Amino acid sequence: MIKRPRRLRKAEILRKMVRETRIDQASLIYPMFVRDGEGIREEIPSMTGQYRYSVDRMYEELEKLSDAGVGAVMLFGIPDYKDEKGSQAYAEDGVIQRALWEAKKRFPDLYYITDVCLCEYTSHGHCGMLKGCEVDNDSTLELLAKTALSHVQAGADMVAPSDMMDGRVGKIRTVLDAEGYEDIPIMSYAVKYASGFYAPFRDAAKSAPAFGDRKSYQMDYHNSREGIKEILLDEEEGVDIVMVKPALAYLDMIAKAKEATNLPVAAYSVSGEYAMIKAAAEKGWILEDQIVCETAVAAFRAGAQSYLTYYAKELAGYIKEGRIG
Ligand code: PBG
Repeated sequence: MIKRPRRLRKAEILRKMVRETRIDQASLIYPMFVRDGEGIREEIPSMTGQYRYSVDRMYEELEKLSDAGVGAVMLFGIPDYKDEKGSQAYAEDGVIQRALWEAKKRFPDLYYITDVCLCEYTSHGHCGMLKGCEVDNDSTLELLAKTALSHVQAGADMVAPSDMMDGRVGKIRTVLDAEGYEDIPIMSYAVKYASGFYAPFRDAAKSAPAFGDRKSYQMDYHNSREGIKEILLDEEEGVDIVMVKPALAYLDMIAKAKEATNLPVAAYSVSGEYAMIKAAAEKGWILEDQIVCETAVAAFRAGAQSYLTYYAKELAGYIKEGRIG
């Protein structure tokens, strides 16, 4: 036998030398929930170890992230007041807008991405405006662009529309450019499936739809070419980074996205992925750190350049220790 793959697996130093996938802390983005109110740090019941912070206490988490070497956050807002038009999403003193002012003052070196959507802000929990019982695409675009602009005016470094309305990237790009923000990048949730994996997030953000589901705007998980169509449309509309979401059950889409576009591809390991690992670990049925490392590396191996994960701090630690990366 002259061909022996095991030769290269003999020693740690050699295994690392020939590694095909490299990751570092710079590719991690931490999703974080900011809510109205004061003095609040409350644990999210279905996401042990994850919290909702009021603006005055979010620095506690930002400090930890910064110390761990995580450089970027994705902010989600949870307002006390919700209405049909999601008006707190684009209010000048909305929760995300205030969070950005404060956070940029205290931690100017972190990079702030904001989720642009209406479901956390609407009384009905849908991601857009209702016309009867339908989510109306075109009237929603106006409000999404308004929301994105108000985030950027408050200091957002990048905006990330997650609503899945048609034409939203183009609309946001046009409005940002008209206001002189042509350098602010857009990361679209381009390949976003209607997924059961978002349940803990909706618990965290109190954003479950009051009726029906999101299948008329988020993608059917039987489809993959449709995801490429979404990527190509977003690309035409001027998107900068495309995201695949969820990650673990959609590794094929991360790989296909990488083939389909020269734009950077991000993957979002969503709340349900976090909750599954946590719950199994709490039962003692798996080793949490091993599974966190393995699932993260899988997303990068599939082709992601950036990775959104509630385990960002822990992963940054594992990378620093040299366990992965
Ligand atoms: C808002 C949004 C959702 C998530 C990110 N942005 C929820 C949804 O679409 O219902 C889910 C993130 C997660 O589950 O971690 N539209």
